Amino acid sequence: MAFARDQWYVAAYGAEVGRDLLARTVLGEPLVLYRTGAGAAVALADRCVHRRYPLSESRLDGDTIVCGYHGFTYDPTGACVFVPGQQRIPRTARVAAYPVVEQDSLVWVWIGDRERADPAGIPRAPWLADPRYAVVRGMAPLNARYGLLVDNLMDLSHETYLHGGHIGTPEVADTPIVTEVDEERGVVRVSRHMDDAECPPFYARSTGIRGRITRWQDIEYHPPCLYLLHSRIAPRGVLPPAEGEDSGAFHAEIVYAITPSTEHTTYDFWAVARDFAVDDGSVSEYLHHSNHTVVMQDVAALDVLERVIAAEPDRYQELSVNIDAGGLAARRLLARMVGPGAAGAPR
Ligand code: FES
Ligand SMILES: [Fe+2]
Repeated sequence: MAFARDQWYVAAYGAEVGRDLLARTVLGEPLVLYRTGAGAAVALADRCVHRRYPLSESRLDGDTIVCGYHGFTYDPTGACVFVPGQQRIPRTARVAAYPVVEQDSLVWVWIGDRERADPAGIPRAPWLADPRYAVVRGMAPLNARYGLLVDNLMDLSHETYLHGGHIGTPEVADTPIVTEVDEERGVVRVSRHMDDAECPPFYARSTGIRGRITRWQDIEYHPPCLYLLHSRIAPRGVLPPAEGEDSGAFHAEIVYAITPSTEHTTYDFWAVARDFAVDDGSVSEYLHHSNHTVVMQDVAALDVLERVIAAEPDRYQELSVNIDAGGLAARRLLARMVGPGAAGAPR
């Protein structure tokens, strides 16, 4: 499966990047991440130019990394500033430094031609760093290609079957979706508005609503990496007012960053931001536990699918139906980003 290069990807949460060296592999490129004394996040290629020892297995000395094998030392720009046993530093002694932007609590890295890196192109998830929201989050490594996670998130009808008892109810699978593609901005939108639905435990326990609900799911996928699910929950019949705050409803902003690690592995960054019970630690604890459970149900299913796909002949033909409209649109936009020169389209 081909990758879309010349794009921004989430490599870590800001809170994961500190004075310990963190190893992540993004689009097959090994990275080491850390934070300088002044607080800037740095991403360098995780291979010493000397004998390719991982810099992530080395140590920080101030803002420099001292290779743990023979001591080549690199500054935050990737330039080698010390070679043991000689004064002269070879001109080619440098590791790649990746453009990094920290925004909305996420650390984005640019994979590709650095001349083309434009931070203005990074999609936003402002709720993750907004004090009016409470956020729970995690990251699950997947032994599956990233396209399977894109398919999974674009078609939430699976909630009814895979996540029953947590977030799934019969209405999710029963209610038709509306799919729109903004070709110019490259965004896929999938909406499912359930006006009379059972309240799943995920929302019953966190909002305290008893009885049936109005449940809206509005997905925005910004390929390749960022997926947003705007979830609106209200007692049945409570609709947003024509003007002013939608204060009769509960809002959860569910964010996924889908970062290909290797061809057959993916980082599944997930976060749930809510505008209700913001100071209630027990609601945070419950939502963290519940969403983690749901994510791990997806991980188990996608890991199985990856093994099935890896073992099957190429000519297997899938059958797509109405619920797949969003996923198919996402695949098409991803294929366009991968470009005609690359072998194999995402699936
Ligand atoms: S491998 Fe890094 S200094 Fe030799
Ligand atoms: Fe799921």
